[in-house]
Amino acid sequence: MLVGRRLERLEAQSKSCAAQGVETLAVAADLGTADGIRAVIAETESTEVGLYFGAAGYGSAGSFCDLPIDDELSMIDVNCRALTALAHPLARQMRARGRGGLILMSSIVGFQGVPHSANYAATKAYVQSLAEGLALELKPDDVDVLASAPGPVATGFARRADMAMSGAAEPATIAHETLAALGRRSTVRPGTQSKLLGYGLGALPRALRSRILGQVMRGMTKHRDG
Ligand SMILES: NC(=O)c1ccc[n+]([C@@H]2O[C@H](COP(=O)([O-])OP(=O)(O)OC[C@H]3O[C@@H](n4cnc5c(N)ncnc54)[C@H](OP(=O)(O)O)[C@@H]3O)[C@@H](O)[C@H]2O)c1
Repeated sequence: MLVGRRLERLEAQSKSCAAQGVETLAVAADLGTADGIRAVIAETESTEVGLYFGAAGYGSAGSFCDLPIDDELSMIDVNCRALTALAHPLARQMRARGRGGLILMSSIVGFQGVPHSANYAATKAYVQSLAEGLALELKPDDVDVLASAPGPVATGFARRADMAMSGAAEPATIAHETLAALGRRSTVRPGTQSKLLGYGLGALPRALRSRILGQVMRGMTKHRDG
């Protein structure tokens, strides 16, 4: 089941999956709305879902006071509310069956506060914490839960957030490393930048990590200064 707002994109993806012998169902829904969440849950009720990939989300960068508040609140709805609303019925389904997996997309920014992307980082801290807790809670039921915390990835993310990323990882690298980690640990840092930043900054005090990532984030919005 492929979920997003743009049906034509989902249908193109469905076609490419079909060419590889994988049957899919395209479900167009806005996960920023209660109706959209309900529509997706309704589709899963008659389907045995083996793996939930909680990836739908977006970010922003810039001064919190200058960012439009509606977009920031909607980000909480999509990144946190919808992800949780979908994880709940699917985890129940998997627990009853005694197997399954949840992969929740976190980020390197989710391990400390990050100036110039404070709300986005906070949504990822929520996802990271939720995954860590659920990983232990659902382990006795043989349901694997994984937080995937990449650094910059070359997707549509940067365009939507108006960020300029350098050295972004390829999505396929992130997907492969993430799937390989499922069932083996509760957090993976896929991609080179995530590992370098994660392990490099890991030993530093949280406040210092915030300052450093704030500088990194500031660098990603420098192009706006002209
Ligand atoms: N790219 C990075 O550098 C990076 C780094 C760390 C973590 N992440 C996380 O990785 C996840 C995937 O992002 P991405 O990099 O693949 O970005 P992306 O290319 O912009 O993809 C985001 C996906 O989420 C869907 N989506 C967004 N808003 C939605 C809504 N309201 N309702 C339903 N679907 C919605 C989009 O489909 P539609 O637009 O068609 O709705 C799209 O398929 C996100 O949670 C992001 O926070 C990304």
